[in-house]
Amino acid sequence: MRLLRSLSSRLVFNWVVISLIAFFTVPATVLLPLAAFGVDDVGYVRLEGHTVKRARVIVMHAVRKTPEGRLRIEPTPELRDYMARNPRFRFAAFDARTGEAFAGSSQELVDYFSSQLGKLEMLGATFHILGDDDPDSRGSARMVRTPLGRFGTIVYGAQFHWDDMLFWLYNYPTTANVLAYLPLCAALSLVALVVVRRSLTPLRVSAAKLAEIDLDSLDRRVPTADMPSEVLPFVEALNGALERVGAGVARQRRFIANSAHELRTPIAILRTRLDQLDDTPIKQELERDSLRIQTILEQLMVLAQVEERAKTCAAPQLDLGEAVLTVTADYTPIALRAGRRLAFEPPPTPVVARAYEWALESVVGNLVANALRAEPPGGAVVVRVTADAVVEVEDHGEGVEPACRETIFEPFWRKSEATPGAGLGLAIAQELMEKLSGRIWVEETPGGGATFKLAFAKVD
Ligand SMILES: Nc1ncnc2c1ncn2[C@@H]1O[C@H](COP(=O)(O)OP(=O)(O)OP(=O)(O)O)[C@@H](O)[C@H]1O
Ligand SMILES: [Mg+2]
Repeated sequence: MRLLRSLSSRLVFNWVVISLIAFFTVPATVLLPLAAFGVDDVGYVRLEGHTVKRARVIVMHAVRKTPEGRLRIEPTPELRDYMARNPRFRFAAFDARTGEAFAGSSQELVDYFSSQLGKLEMLGATFHILGDDDPDSRGSARMVRTPLGRFGTIVYGAQFHWDDMLFWLYNYPTTANVLAYLPLCAALSLVALVVVRRSLTPLRVSAAKLAEIDLDSLDRRVPTADMPSEVLPFVEALNGALERVGAGVARQRRFIANSAHELRTPIAILRTRLDQLDDTPIKQELERDSLRIQTILEQLMVLAQVEERAKTCAAPQLDLGEAVLTVTADYTPIALRAGRRLAFEPPPTPVVARAYEWALESVVGNLVANALRAEPPGGAVVVRVTADAVVEVEDHGEGVEPACRETIFEPFWRKSEATPGAGLGLAIAQELMEKLSGRIWVEETPGGGATFKLAFAKVD
C-alpha cells in the first residue's frame, strides 16, 4: 500500500471512509435516539416526513390491476401489518385524470375529498381533517408514478414508528443523494490534497537543503521557516542531531590532527636512533617501517590542514606543471634505485590551478610511489599534466580491475597483504581532492596498466 504512505492520500482516504460511514449512520445514530425521546423535529429534518413517505409507498405497492384492467387497492401483508399497528391509518388512491377513487380506498377519505380528488395534483398537500379529535393527525396527498401508471395517493393518520428510520436508511442512498454527495466529496478531497501539498512545501525545501549537507558542511542547518508545527519538532530534532554530529566530527578531526602531530616527534627521535645502529638487515627493515609510519602521519596532517583551511578560504593558485615537475624530480632517484624510469610530460602552455603545494605533493607523491611499485622492472612511469589541469600518472603494471576502481579509494583497501603500505594513500588522496574541489579516478593504460587521474580546479 505504497499509495497510502502519502499524507494526502491518507487524508482523502480517511475523509471518504468517514464521510461514507457518516452518510449511512448519522440518521440512525443521531435521529433515532432523538425520536426515542419524542423529538421528531430536528431542524429541517422532520421525522414525520419519513413516516408519511413510507406509508405512501406501502399503499403504492398495494395497488393492483384487476383482470378488467382497472386499478384497485388490495391490502398486502405489509399494508395489513401497518394498519394493525396504526389503527387510525386511512389511505386512498385515485385516477389522476378523472379523480375517481380506486376500490379498496378508505371511504372516509374518499368522502372527505369527493369533490377535490381530480385537483390534488396541484395541491400536493399536507392536511388535517377538520373535526378529527387527534390534533396531531396529519395527512398527505400526492401524485405518484408506478409501473401501473400515474395516480393520486392520500395517506392519513400514520404514526411515527422507529422502523420508519430503517425504511429511510434503506431508501436514503438514492441516485440523487449519492450524486449530490460525490461532487462534495471530490471538492473536499481536492481541498485536502491542496492543503497537504501546500503545507508540506517547506518540508520539500528543507529536504533539498538537507540533501546538500555532508561531512564538510555539518555547520549548515535545515531551515525551519514556515514549517508546519506538526513537523517542526522533527526538523528541530534533525538540526539538533546535525549539531551533535558536527561537534563530534570536529572533535575527532582535532584528535586525529593532534595525535598525528604529537606522534611526529617520537618517530623523528626513533629514526635518529636507528641511524646510529650498525647497518644490518633488521635495521633496514626498521627504517622502512618507521618511514611508513612517518608518511602516514604526514598524510594525516596534510588532510587535517586542508580540512581546516578549506573551511575559511579557497586554495591558492599555483602553476600545476611546475609543482608536479618538482614532485616528479623528487621521486626520480627513488625510481632509478628501484630500476624504473620516471618521465614527465609538461602541459603545452602553463596551467594554473587551485591547490596547496604540500597537498599536491602528498597526492601526486602517493600516486607516483604506487605506480613505481606497480611498474615492471625497466619500465617507465609517465607523469603528465594536460591543458585542462588534469594530472595523469601512468604505469604499465597489472592495472586495476574495473570492479575495484571505486573500492580502491576506500581506507585500508589493498589488493594483497603482501605489498607494503597501509592502504591509506588513495583514501587520503581522494579526501584531499574533494577538499580542493577536484576529483581523482583510475582508468586503464592503453596496452595495460593503471592510469590515475587528478582533475584540479583550473584557473582561466
Ligand atoms: N598503480 C597501481 N596499480 C595497481 N594497483 C594499485 C596501484 N596503486 C594502488 N594500487 C592498489 O591499491 C592499494 C591501495 O593503494 P594506497 O595508495 O591507498 O595504499 P598503499 O599504497 O597500499 O599504502 P599507502 O599509500 O598508505 O602507503 C594498493 O595496496 C594496491 O593494491
Ligand atoms: Mg600508496
